[in-house]
Amino acid sequence: MKILSIESSCDETAAAVVEDGRRVLSNVVASQVEEHKLYGGVVPEIASRRHCEAINGVVKKALDDAGVSLDEIDALAVTYAPGLIGALLVGVNFAKGLSLAAGLPLVPVHHLRSHIASNYISHKELEPPFLCLVVSGGHSHIVEVKDYTDMKVIGKTRDDAAGEAFDKAARTMGMPYPGGIHLDRAAEDGDPLSFRLPHPRVEGAPYDFSFSGLKTAVINLIHNASQKGSTLPVNDLSASFRKAVVDSLTDNFIRAAEDLGYKTLVLAGGVSANSLLRRRISEECDKRGWRCYYPPIELCGDNGAMVGAQGYYEYLAGNIAGTDLNARATMTIE
Ligand code: KG4
Ligand code: ZN
Repeated sequence: MKILSIESSCDETAAAVVEDGRRVLSNVVASQVEEHKLYGGVVPEIASRRHCEAINGVVKKALDDAGVSLDEIDALAVTYAPGLIGALLVGVNFAKGLSLAAGLPLVPVHHLRSHIASNYISHKELEPPFLCLVVSGGHSHIVEVKDYTDMKVIGKTRDDAAGEAFDKAARTMGMPYPGGIHLDRAAEDGDPLSFRLPHPRVEGAPYDFSFSGLKTAVINLIHNASQKGSTLPVNDLSASFRKAVVDSLTDNFIRAAEDLGYKTLVLAGGVSANSLLRRRISEECDKRGWRCYYPPIELCGDNGAMVGAQGYYEYLAGNIAGTDLNARATMTIE
């Protein structure tokens, strides 16, 4: 079964053709990052406008790259929640129009579920149940993936998402948007023990996260130094910050797996590209004889292929939308 999938939840306009949920025939991503960089973050109104301009060409290229015509497509899948509402609406309305015109079933896909599904593309043997750490610019969740469309959130951030904390700390250090990847690179040449930063815990909620205090601690260190006319070593500060975030993610994720008896651990979302997080979770799993999976770097960020992968399993579960499908800015993964 071939699915044409569309993603427009944030600042990438993306489309793909995916066969049977696991085989990617094409995957086209038009990124708007260069334009948002000027403003230090995503400007929602600009994002919506760029999606409108790009979506037709991106979808056409996805079909061309796959070497298939619309007649050979069996269903459409589209990200409908959560994300920037104006951005989501572009993909959802395009998909609804195409569904109506081509007479194809329309499958609504939750953005975080699709991040998890990026792992099905690269790891053909991976099947639920497993425990997943979903870490992106907007979310930090520990999710029990009981089945392809049956999930339970057992831990989440109480304030900032991990990616958001990375981006804000990086911006204060003068790195361009999105800063997570720049901070990660700078940290590779730094000493993680050079700055003592808080390692936050949420009292009474062992699987929940809190990153805003940590982010504020870094911002205060930088501002205090600049008021004294000095600067801090960026590599060391990046390494210390990255260690604090990754320690917190790793500790809670491993504890949750131990408590609930999961032996297959999966990373997903933009922050799953973080090199220390990948190393740490792999090491902890190796020690215990557990299996560890994460997507290849090119499937960690937003893309259309992951929407086609999850869309396949949503279709099998009978999750088909009508023309009344609406975009939603927030929605639980459950
Ligand atoms: O999943 P994603 O592409 O978009 C959302 O759904 O939010 O995640 C983007 C986030 C950004 O905050 C970005 O800085 C972060 O993922 N990110 C990283 C790395 N690569 C991307 N954070 C830390 N280390 C990285 N290597
Ligand atoms: Zn995302």
